[in-house]
Amino acid sequence: MQAALEDPKILSLAAGFTDSSSLPVEAVGRAVRRLEQKPGPPEHLQYGTNQGRPGLRRLLAEFVGGHDGSTVGSIDPDSVIITNGSQQALYLASRVLCEPGDIVLVERPSYFVYLDMLKGLGVDIRSLPESPDGRIDSDGLTSFLDRCRRDGSADRIKIVYIEGYFSNPAGVCRTNDEKREIAEALNASTANPVVIEDAAYRDLYFHHPHPGDSILALSGFESIPCLYLGTLTKPFATGMKVGFGICSHHDWRQRILWLKSHQDFGTANFNQAILEEIVLDGGLEEQTTRLRKNYLGKMEALHEAMIAEGLDSMGWKWTKPQGGLYFWLQAPVGLDTRMDSHFWQACRDEHVLYIPGDLCYGNDAPNDRVRLSFGVLKPDDLARAAARFARASRRIVVPA
Ligand SMILES: Cc1ncc(COP(=O)(O)O)c(C=O)c1O
Repeated sequence: MQAALEDPKILSLAAGFTDSSSLPVEAVGRAVRRLEQKPGPPEHLQYGTNQGRPGLRRLLAEFVGGHDGSTVGSIDPDSVIITNGSQQALYLASRVLCEPGDIVLVERPSYFVYLDMLKGLGVDIRSLPESPDGRIDSDGLTSFLDRCRRDGSADRIKIVYIEGYFSNPAGVCRTNDEKREIAEALNASTANPVVIEDAAYRDLYFHHPHPGDSILALSGFESIPCLYLGTLTKPFATGMKVGFGICSHHDWRQRILWLKSHQDFGTANFNQAILEEIVLDGGLEEQTTRLRKNYLGKMEALHEAMIAEGLDSMGWKWTKPQGGLYFWLQAPVGLDTRMDSHFWQACRDEHVLYIPGDLCYGNDAPNDRVRLSFGVLKPDDLARAAARFARASRRIVVPA
């Protein structure tokens, strides 16, 4: 981000920002005017509560309950905590559980900002075992948990973190079976971790929602403390920075709230009041529908530009994501994409930025992955950025 700010010539395919030109200016303006017209004191400009506005918590419980076929309407608004982005919920939830040396299990690859946070907490990040087709390997997980029991480290496993819907960075969705198998493996083990499901991109699908239920709705998770993370940043307005957690476990939730009260004693009440208005009048769904179309167009634009620039014939591999904001690429054999590699430098020389994929792993990172975001740039700039990326690639890749 700093490089992009310092050099105006840079086209950034790195940042996970959203498309500025499609931010919901009018919908927010309308909601603010409605708030101004409400009789009585302007409570939306007063402090709110630590846990978040009851009305918005109720709406969010209904919203998520409406996604999960088997639990429609059954999410308790008291289990919802409204946070300053889901990022804050992720931090609070992890901070109250983890001491240095504790173990957190993540997918390969995983959300690099969370991994960086875990490193800051001194956590030992381990990868969930996976089968060659990319599924979470429940037998491998069972063997891992058993090894931990034998070497005495099972008690140190505190969190299993998954992104069930259009993950960042790989764009992967998890099936109900995969999630249930995680629950089965945990239930059969001596370890007692919580499960966090981060659903930041659940609503940003391009054609169809992913049909899978969340961990809140699936059998097997009843006796496991669960936290579902959602956000209104990506599907509505990033700058309002309102996210939420739904936490099924009373004591864990109280500890999260206790820490939140020390940090901010409540997410901005004004932003929550605006969003409450917007969810009530259908403005959230309207905006998300617009964004789906917009990001589908930008995803296609970057995909076509990468083909037109010959990245596939140079040996780059990727698949089209079905939602989210990112392409996840594997580099041609032997090409190192890590920060400060020759390729990284060549991209800097061409004024284009990407996220080096090795940041998205614990201690078992490959050095040939790249995350490209199509969130920010317009289609023309995406094509220019792809051309620069391809030029950098041609400078480094030795033709086969
Ligand atoms: C997977 C994932 N989780 C959580 C977040 C945090 O989102 P926010 O704090 O904007 O709600 C992001 C942001 O990029 C993300 O990609």
